[in-house]
Amino acid sequence: MIAPTPPTAELHLHVEGTIEAELLVRLADRHGLPLPSRDPAVLRERYAHFVDLRSFLDVYYANLAVLRTEEDFHELATGYLDRALKAGVRRAEVFFDPQTHVQHGVPLEAVIHGLSSAFSAAEETHGVSAALILCFLRDLGPEAAEEILRAALPFREHFIGVGLDSAEVGYPPSLFTGVYAMAAAEGLHRVAHAGEEGGAEYVREALDLLHVERVDHGIRAMEDPELVARLRDERIPLTVCPLSNVSLRAVDTLGEHPLPRMLDEGLLATVNSDDPAYFGGYVDDNYRAVARELGLDRPRLAQLARNSVDATFAPEEDKRRWHAEIDAWL
Ligand code: ADE
Ligand code: ZN
Repeated sequence: MIAPTPPTAELHLHVEGTIEAELLVRLADRHGLPLPSRDPAVLRERYAHFVDLRSFLDVYYANLAVLRTEEDFHELATGYLDRALKAGVRRAEVFFDPQTHVQHGVPLEAVIHGLSSAFSAAEETHGVSAALILCFLRDLGPEAAEEILRAALPFREHFIGVGLDSAEVGYPPSLFTGVYAMAAAEGLHRVAHAGEEGGAEYVREALDLLHVERVDHGIRAMEDPELVARLRDERIPLTVCPLSNVSLRAVDTLGEHPLPRMLDEGLLATVNSDDPAYFGGYVDDNYRAVARELGLDRPRLAQLARNSVDATFAPEEDKRRWHAEIDAWL
């Protein structure tokens, strides 16, 4: 039987956002830590009521206190890979937020080794090519970002790039010019969240000042026709997260999501899950949701999947193989 959703790359996924309520309870029990409830159903119910990015981040960061050891991080990453395999993911470029864990007293080495031991073996264990992207928390400011990058450089071979996430408005990309230049000098890839809650000017700054190779979210770029033309002409990928955008009210309903317009404009838009444990689904669920609510047919889903492959930082020979799989799916 042909899978209902195409083989795909996933380029906008926070590994910490894959902490399902059951794992949350298991880790809290393991370390004797409090939670608002020990009932996964009650915890999940709390995730249905975000009103914006900040209200989500408060829950997300509080939950991350249960991640204490290298084994915890390994388990988190393996849980994601198990689910990614079922979702048809061929390549995952996965965000992690080391500053949060270091603030909780976890050694950086435990975070990186726990995640990378799962991801570096993922091709053999799961048939999923996987790599890590270290994200700076923009609300902690540029000096803290430089500090965590310096601390992570001894583990340079375990991550392929840097990103910028957390509360967007009030923390424009321009604050992070220096740390992105440092990352570029180390040969790291550069991406950044921009245009999720922040306006089109945040997307421009990410391009002009941080020299990002992809924009995470970027949906508010659609408010600026000149910027849309530039994104198309320069083939800048946008890692769009439809179910996340509805949960955090960046759009009112999925039926009003700009994704079809992005494709019509010839943008390199991709579909991703962001924080699937919180937003109602993994990348295949996002594909199904946009097919249903936005009327995207199989050729359009295949286009989104091809875009995702083109937007990866993977070798060209891998991209050719994944393109052939998408063609076969179609
Ligand atoms: N961290 C985890 N998910 C995020 C999102 N959607 N936006 C910004 N920071 C995040
Ligand atoms: Zn995100």
